[in-house]
Amino acid sequence: MVCLGNICRSPLAEGILAKQAAENGFAIEVESAGTSAHMPGCAPHKYSQRIAAENGVDISRQQCRQFVAEDFDRFDKIFVMDESNYRNVRKIAGEKWNQHKVDFLMNLVTPNCNQDIPDPWYGNLDGYSKVFDMIDKACKNLVHNLKSELNQSAK
Ligand code: 4NP
Repeated sequence: MVCLGNICRSPLAEGILAKQAAENGFAIEVESAGTSAHMPGCAPHKYSQRIAAENGVDISRQQCRQFVAEDFDRFDKIFVMDESNYRNVRKIAGEKWNQHKVDFLMNLVTPNCNQDIPDPWYGNLDGYSKVFDMIDKACKNLVHNLKSELNQSAK
């Protein structure tokens, strides 16, 4: 899960997907990172932590980190929050770039629309709440898709 700072959006995405995956019995590895992670080692934004906690998701122990090209080796799928994240991931990836691994998280809700999850950094708690709901919906669809794939491969 990738955003700009790894402070607001992608920590929420990591926490929400990890929780939903665990609840549905999927042992998947989920991490988040920022394309310009200026606060390495820092915890997520207090509003992200608060909105997560209000929804039963604990992101308080996450630590901010920079997205690196080697993440293309470690992960099957890289979800970005917005278009600038997509461009930054492509730049950072260099020779590791693999278009098939990268998608907009919101394409899980509105396929092929490349819809942005807006950056809540300069706004109030309400913005974080809207971002939470968008990410929550996308992750639910992702878990649903994984379940369908699993059922198909079991047949
Ligand atoms: P994020 O939000 O990309 O959702 O983590 C931001 C976090 C930090 C900054 C901008 C956006 N910043 O300018 O430091």
